Amino acid sequence: MPTQRLRLNDGHMIPRLGLGIWQVPAETTAGTVATALRMGYRLVDGAAIYGNEAGLGEGVRQSGLPRDEIFVTTKVWNDDQGYDTTLRAVEASLARLGMGQVELCLIHWPCPARDRYLDTWRALIRLREEGRVRSIGVSNFMAEHLERLVGETGVVPVLNQIELNPRLQQAELRALHDRMGIVTQSWTPLGQGRSFDAAPIREAVARTGKSPAQVILRWHLQLGVSVIPRSTRAAGLAENLDLADFTLTDAEMAAIATLDEGLRCGPDPMTFA
Ligand SMILES: NC(=O)c1ccc[n+]([C@@H]2O[C@H](COP(=O)([O-])OP(=O)(O)OC[C@H]3O[C@@H](n4cnc5c(N)ncnc54)[C@H](OP(=O)(O)O)[C@@H]3O)[C@@H](O)[C@H]2O)c1
Repeated sequence: MPTQRLRLNDGHMIPRLGLGIWQVPAETTAGTVATALRMGYRLVDGAAIYGNEAGLGEGVRQSGLPRDEIFVTTKVWNDDQGYDTTLRAVEASLARLGMGQVELCLIHWPCPARDRYLDTWRALIRLREEGRVRSIGVSNFMAEHLERLVGETGVVPVLNQIELNPRLQQAELRALHDRMGIVTQSWTPLGQGRSFDAAPIREAVARTGKSPAQVILRWHLQLGVSVIPRSTRAAGLAENLDLADFTLTDAEMAAIATLDEGLRCGPDPMTFA
């Protein structure tokens, strides 16, 4: 499953399933990342604000895998938005990671009140040209932010990482991504467990013998998105990777679609600064 990949609009490939490391303590990140990579994960989703980029880089090295088999994402934090500040922030991320290049760098939030995401984007375009980042994308961008970004710069993000789980299914934004050639990637994919007991999940669990988390992660994959669950337990890491031996039926996918309530676990991208 982790070796299955999606094509980005710049021709590079991204693993469909990865490990998220938000809230993984800095001192244990290297161990978690190395364990995950040895199990078969090939994508690690980091960010400057997570405070554990050094551990991410160390975990990649500890894994013993060739660097070119691993896809590393980092993100530019809100306070660093702007042209020069972004150039400096990405260099600082690379230094903490101990890497010459990351596979993907995202603008973490649009922060419309700051109105700096266009300059931030122009800096990422330059960093891509200079080879410091291989692909560039965004996170938490709404339709109007995506349309303005592309309208002003002509450069389409390869990916938009957004909150997506059974209670917040983001059908309209996913459709826009498809029209624009942008990969959707789901954050908080398990939705803080709030749908684990819902009837459509319980019924799919009963039929397949898989766990609620596995059913929900399989739902993400069948939507066609990339997904980055976090677990710090070896058993959780293994469980979240073990999705290849079952398929949800069309009826099960339709039943899970009814769980959409448009409710966020995280902040609203229109106001978060
Ligand atoms: N771009 C953004 O603004 C943004 C925002 C939030 C998150 N993210 C990214 O998305 C990643 C994932 O989101 P997330 O960390 O919020 O949440 P998540 O992956 O949906 O859920 C993580 C929680 O679920 C538990 N869990 C994991 N696997 C499980 C399983 N198989 N069964 C039961 N419980 C399980 C974990 O506990 P255990 O560790 O005990 O397993 C943890 O408490 C983040 O780590 C981060 O990389 C991005």
